[in-house]
Amino acid sequence: MVKILHIDSSPRGERSHSRELSKEFVSSWKAAHPEDAIAYRDIGRHPVPHVNEAWIAAAFSPPETHTPELTEALRISDELIDELLAADRYVFGVPMYNFNIPSTFKAYIDQIVRANRTFAIDAQGGFRGLVEGKKAVIITARGADFSPTSPAAPYDFQEPYLRTIFGFIGITDIQFINANSLNEGDARTQSLSEARAAIKDLITHW
Ligand SMILES: Cc1cc2nc3c(=O)[nH]c(=O)nc-3n(C[C@H](O)[C@H](O)[C@H](O)COP(=O)(O)O)c2cc1C
Repeated sequence: MVKILHIDSSPRGERSHSRELSKEFVSSWKAAHPEDAIAYRDIGRHPVPHVNEAWIAAAFSPPETHTPELTEALRISDELIDELLAADRYVFGVPMYNFNIPSTFKAYIDQIVRANRTFAIDAQGGFRGLVEGKKAVIITARGADFSPTSPAAPYDFQEPYLRTIFGFIGITDIQFINANSLNEGDARTQSLSEARAAIKDLITHW
């Protein structure tokens, strides 16, 4: 049995393309693998908090020195990291906002990227990801076209950022399904059907 963590980050409901496509991926996967377990988190409608001063003090001090207040400051982060580590695979639905990820998804990343829990620092100051042996599918929704040959491709800070930050914590096996041109009428229909074809294809060999 594979454990999948499915996260949506669009604040939109029915109108959200990333939500619709991530749901399609997970329901197709579940139909093909009924024994697998799916955990779901909706950070678009139920955002996680931003890190604050107490969080930072707690995250960068030894747990055995923590007061009850500092332990409490990391409670949500611990819960999110436990959930991340408990899963074998991830399906993330992520809109493009201002060429990158929405602040809801960034707040989530700030909670889960934590020294000694998801990455380690060695004696020479080098970094090592601790979230090993996982796979991720990241489904993005974009208004314009950022495909590799388009003029806007250099403005795509979303896929490179997500590859970098998840790679940093050890998640390097990442498949992207980028639905481009969603604000562009006719192109939208084609883009959504390409994304659906990519989902179907990935279901057979993920
Ligand atoms: C605040 C905001 C910023 C956006 N920035 C971009 C952008 O930089 N590039 C782009 O192509 N589309 C941008 N869009 C359009 C969204 O990426 C597009 O509507 C996408 O479908 C949103 O995901 P969702 O359908 O899952 O909600 C932006 C939309 C919003 C609301």
